[in-house]
Amino acid sequence: MSAPSIITKRSLFVPQPELSDGTFQLLRSFIYEQTGIYFQDNKKYLLEGRIGKRLQVLGMKNFEDYCHLVKFGLQKDEERKFLYDAITIKETCFFRNPAQLEALEHKLIAEILEARRVNGRAKIRVWSAGSSSGEEAYTLAMIYLEKLKPRFPGLDIEIMGTDISLLILDTARKGIYRENSVRNMPKYYLDKYIICQDSRYCIRDEVKRLVRFEYLNLYDQTGMRLMRNFDLIFCCNVLIYFDTKSKIQVVSNLYDSMSRGGYLFIGYAETLHGISKAFKVINFPKTVTYVKE
Ligand SMILES: C[S@@+](CC[C@H](N)C(=O)[O-])C[C@H]1O[C@@H](n2cnc3c(N)ncnc32)[C@H](O)[C@@H]1O
Repeated sequence: MSAPSIITKRSLFVPQPELSDGTFQLLRSFIYEQTGIYFQDNKKYLLEGRIGKRLQVLGMKNFEDYCHLVKFGLQKDEERKFLYDAITIKETCFFRNPAQLEALEHKLIAEILEARRVNGRAKIRVWSAGSSSGEEAYTLAMIYLEKLKPRFPGLDIEIMGTDISLLILDTARKGIYRENSVRNMPKYYLDKYIICQDSRYCIRDEVKRLVRFEYLNLYDQTGMRLMRNFDLIFCCNVLIYFDTKSKIQVVSNLYDSMSRGGYLFIGYAETLHGISKAFKVINFPKTVTYVKE
């Protein structure tokens, strides 16, 4: 009779598969072609760690099978959602860049309204491109409710948030956050527009109903062509993940998506220097904005 097998902690340990240089190149090229996001050689460990976790969930033993699954598998469309979610960085918070909001409140809103008056359009179109979990888009909705609506009750607004990660868009639509998201939020806005319950921070309905969230890959030319006539685009902390070629493509598409007289904001650490000469640059204290003239 054979001895009963003893399952030890050691025998349960499943070593994580290794991402070979060849498969790293294949995955990196695929991700780049699909999303514009480029992983430098020194970021191999990031892909290995993040996709490695997905391999464990799927019970897959190697990266080669995973690469085949996302490129050719029957479930490839479904799996790409998880891949895009795994590879993107979604750090964000409410009122992330106060200098941009000040520029908007003190000068740009008046100019956008004047342009709308000249064009005879009573609606402002705003887009948070690469919205992550929605804090940026909801911040803009709060600014509208606070600064614009009381002065111009007839003025309509449409605010869109888009992202490549479907999972993060679910969070955005729910509008329920943790403390980390509200860390920069002025108390006045927190008290007025957020309901705090059991350490969860819920967006009030009056804010929520102003914002619509949709899937959009900023690197997808077809999808980008549908985005037109925006007066204000916030594409902050997204371009940093692209190489120069994909930045040029995405920024050129953003330009086409804007109305004349519209403004583009990018992240604090980002610049359009060497990427586009199409915009007029306007400097504000601690921030710049790019105008489509
Ligand atoms: C760091 S977050 C920035 C969130 C917000 N804009 C802010 O500044 O706080 C970057 C977001 O860009 C999204 N992203 C990255 N590549 C993208 C692409 N090709 N198309 C659409 N969204 C993308 C990521 O999923 C992520 O949610």
